[in-house]
Amino acid sequence: MSSSDLWIRDVITSYGLPAIILILIAISISQNWPWLRKCIYKCYLTGFEAECAELMAPYKKCLFESLQHVVSSDRVLRAMGCIRLLEIGVKTGENIQFYPDSTHLIAVDRNVKLAEYLIKGNRSWEFSHIIIERLITGDGSSLKEIPTGYVDIVVSTRSLCSVKSTRSTLQEIRRVLAPGGQYLFIEHTPENEGTFIRWLQKMLSRTRLWPSLFGGCNLDVDPIADIKNAGFYQITWDTFTLDGFVSQYFHFILSKQHVLGIAIR
Ligand SMILES: C[S@@+](CC[C@H](N)C(=O)[O-])C[C@H]1O[C@@H](n2cnc3c(N)ncnc32)[C@H](O)[C@@H]1O
Repeated sequence: MSSSDLWIRDVITSYGLPAIILILIAISISQNWPWLRKCIYKCYLTGFEAECAELMAPYKKCLFESLQHVVSSDRVLRAMGCIRLLEIGVKTGENIQFYPDSTHLIAVDRNVKLAEYLIKGNRSWEFSHIIIERLITGDGSSLKEIPTGYVDIVVSTRSLCSVKSTRSTLQEIRRVLAPGGQYLFIEHTPENEGTFIRWLQKMLSRTRLWPSLFGGCNLDVDPIADIKNAGFYQITWDTFTLDGFVSQYFHFILSKQHVLGIAIR
């Protein structure tokens, strides 16, 4: 046996088994990729996002308190003392607890199980204080069915990052709001330029790795810059860093900076 034959034999006996195992794992991942991606996203929504919603409750409470004083532009709703509110990215209705009694809700979400969660789900009793007027399954900018100036309030919390186009979604939000109507938002924002986390946010978003795994979430979007350009009459906002314990810490590191605010049409 020549020395090169001996070398090949040594490599095969030392690394052959691990290499075969790695190749089989890679083949199995690529064959089951759509299913695996769905599992990763589900784990993120039911794990990290649920924990995040709990940590964010005090901020939401503060933001949504102003809803108690909103007077509807709709004559009939005004007479009944209630408002019409549209939420983009409603998920399983985490924000509904903060909405005033008898709020007429239009819920938009890309998730096809929207009705299952909000109407037929075992938590639907938690939403009995509001009236679900309409469910729209689709992208955040798919508001064509909503007439211009039809709603008093639009809400988005950690959802603007996932829509197909932030610009067209904000244009639609402005269109469906009645004059004087309010867009209430809490969205995550990128870290300051020049930091390692900012570099990571850019890299993961621009390579589409992060959006492809986590429902289109783009870590590189600055919502305030887009909201400022959307033509609202007045915008007030504040920033905060979310703090506390979450199990999927890498998500937290990448999306803990937030902006909370109100844009008036
Ligand atoms: C991170 S969760 C936030 C849920 C909720 N707003 C909260 O604060 O707990 C994002 C939600 O937006 C939805 N979503 C993702 N992409 C969307 C899109 N393009 N248009 C509308 N909703 C979308 C997801 O299905 C999910 O329910």
